[in-house]
Amino acid sequence: MITHSGYAVEPWSLRETELNLDLLSQSESVFALSNGHIGWRGNLDEGEPHGLPGAYLNGVHELHPLPYAEAGYGYPESGETLINITDGKIIRLLVDDHPCDVRYGELTAHERVLDFRTGVLRRTADWTSPAGLSVRITSERLVSFTQRAIAAIAYEVEPLNGSTTVAVQSELVANEQMPHLTGDPRVAAAIDCPLMPEEDFAKDTRLRLVHCTRHSAQRVGAAADHLIDGPEGTTWSAESEPDVSRLTVTSTLEPGRRLRLVKFVGYGWSVERSLSAVRDQVDGAVAAARSTGWEALLAEQRAYLDNFWSGADVEVDGDAQIQQAVRFALFHVLQAAARSEERAIPAKGLTGTGYDGHSFWDVESFVLPLLTFTAPQAVAPVLRWRHATLPAARDRAHQLGLAGAAFPWRTISGAECSAYWPAGTAAFHINADIAYAVLRYVAVTGDVTFARGPGLELLVHTARLWHSLGHHDPEGVFHIDGVTGPDEYSAIARDNLYTNLMARRNLTAAAELASRHPDRAEELGVDDEETAAWRDAAARIAVPYNAALGVHEQSAGFTGFQHWDFAATSAEQYPLLLHFPYFDLYRKQVVKQADLVLAMVTCGDDFTAEEKARNFAYYEALTVRDSSLSACCQAVMAAETGHLRLAYAYLGEAALMDLENLEHNTRDGLHIASLAGTWMALVLGLGGMRQHESEDGGIGPLGFAPRMPEQLSGLKFTVMVRGRRLRVDIRRSTARYVLEEGEPLHLLHHGELLTVSGDRPVERPLPPARVLPEPQQPKGRPPADRSPTGAFDGDEDSD
Ligand code: BGC
Repeated sequence: MITHSGYAVEPWSLRETELNLDLLSQSESVFALSNGHIGWRGNLDEGEPHGLPGAYLNGVHELHPLPYAEAGYGYPESGETLINITDGKIIRLLVDDHPCDVRYGELTAHERVLDFRTGVLRRTADWTSPAGLSVRITSERLVSFTQRAIAAIAYEVEPLNGSTTVAVQSELVANEQMPHLTGDPRVAAAIDCPLMPEEDFAKDTRLRLVHCTRHSAQRVGAAADHLIDGPEGTTWSAESEPDVSRLTVTSTLEPGRRLRLVKFVGYGWSVERSLSAVRDQVDGAVAAARSTGWEALLAEQRAYLDNFWSGADVEVDGDAQIQQAVRFALFHVLQAAARSEERAIPAKGLTGTGYDGHSFWDVESFVLPLLTFTAPQAVAPVLRWRHATLPAARDRAHQLGLAGAAFPWRTISGAECSAYWPAGTAAFHINADIAYAVLRYVAVTGDVTFARGPGLELLVHTARLWHSLGHHDPEGVFHIDGVTGPDEYSAIARDNLYTNLMARRNLTAAAELASRHPDRAEELGVDDEETAAWRDAAARIAVPYNAALGVHEQSAGFTGFQHWDFAATSAEQYPLLLHFPYFDLYRKQVVKQADLVLAMVTCGDDFTAEEKARNFAYYEALTVRDSSLSACCQAVMAAETGHLRLAYAYLGEAALMDLENLEHNTRDGLHIASLAGTWMALVLGLGGMRQHESEDGGIGPLGFAPRMPEQLSGLKFTVMVRGRRLRVDIRRSTARYVLEEGEPLHLLHHGELLTVSGDRPVERPLPPARVLPEPQQPKGRPPADRSPTGAFDGDEDSD
């Protein structure tokens, strides 16, 4: 084991051996458990102390008015906020008559371990009460990947210094009192008491609460059942009131004897179903979990994860911390998405209420690339969620006077929730990001049913949006004016290059797919004239370029703006959005996050190698990385342009965003896009994996251009492509492609076409990287230089 400031560095787990109350909120986020449907923050079992209590159900939110000092047409009137639902993880403990609370008495030992292979959070704590009685608490917690509605806890208490009477109170608590949150505008507004009681119940070992949200009218049910194992004389009783349902177990424990409680918690919600239907749903889920039993739930969890890791694991040789971080990242991205099933994936997953629990383009542009290649079965449900919101997106487009569909910049339900137009609805690129995610998914899986169905509809309606949003100038050039690209320090620009290139692909691919499925196209009212117009717009789309500087422009005119005065900007003034007015950011050359650099990743075939090198250097000098979505994109392009030291530094930043709390807001939830970006930095960056564009706007063969920074000695990863499992094993000077499953596969290695088959792995040398002068970042903004933390000793497979 290697240790560093926060957590022990281990290959397959995250271990904390000291409880630092100042870092409680942060640790609650990193130890959060979720299956994409239920989310439990890593709160201590006894509920307090806490940074932010959190139990979430994907989609359960409350509405609140969005106030405007100056109203405008088309401004969304109602906001949506993820709410803390009934907390089923609370198990309070009284040791004699002292509540176990680590702020009192003495915590003599503490450990929490999140195990990425078993999907279990384990805690042990030795606590001595103010009266001098010592107990050991052991708990294991999981949110089930296999039983979507279920979370469970095995909790044990044993005395350490003499006979002790304990009372364990296992609860369901609604409307938990929330702590006061910070004034940072990006932090979710806490909503007081969002749940109105409908029913409470407690009998024997069973508990249940049903509530309804006040404005969004979502009915939320939570139920629990328990197995109790204690010495003779152990007694229990259950009681309930509107916001609390409680099982109290009391026992007198002699040294060596334990009281053990297994708690199965079931959740469900609906806007449609009746009280009795929701009640039955949660009771049924709990009864099923109880009959499965704790050990079998653990076994199912392990089997689910074994399967995931067999197609998703990434091995990094030479840097143990990055190795741990990438598995932590993969685990949390899986948790955010695995069972979200036609619901959104919030920017923070279900680990906290940051960004009000909203979903952004983070889903399609960061999370889905990873899932498409590692857990493709989880992707269609996410895209189906987008598709289910198509009616709302079409209404929004209509409201804006546009054709097709305008998907929301931030949302829970599908309605636009951004109250800030320039960095909200104007970020129209999200529509092309969705279209590209469809293309990527279809190319990688060959899912024709999806392509013909929801896929085509998404492409058609987004193509219609682009066509109506843009216009041809007198020379015929197609411009898209008044949009905001990924860089939120520029807004309402003409011809944002990222947007235009992504829109071009969207238009071409929609036309192509429509011609491949004429019957479906006809149903959608698409005719030849319309597809010809899309193709024409795509062919003539503006690509802003400054010939004098030899670089592309992020948007038309951008390179003519005044440069931001980085020399006069102090470290404390970042992020700039909290210290400078937007109007000043908008009119100067300063970039919040990868924008044109991301265009060179997603639309790489639209640039020559020389253009990429020059563009990268130019925009590096302007990019301040005030968004966690930036470092991973910069890592990819740094690797492609041969700046391997820089790529490695950016990889470190993306990978450690939450483990080292680099943006100081991990307390509000994890940065799911940056976690997914860790995979991007490794696989797209060092692995150089790209899906090249095909003639028809679709996606052609998979290419790799591996590169190895001198700090690392190896990188292995697996990708799933069209039912095949390909293992890529990169060493210092060679890359080996091994087909572990499926039919022979054509791929590119640094441009050379190879065929890999099950019995014929292919090995090729790595060409030397070009040596170019390393680009400069704005003053004070280079990524921290990284020194590798070494490799793990011995068997990597052991904990
Ligand atoms: C970024 C957006 C991102 C959002 C949610 C913002 O700071 O600028 O690109 O979608 O965070 O992660």
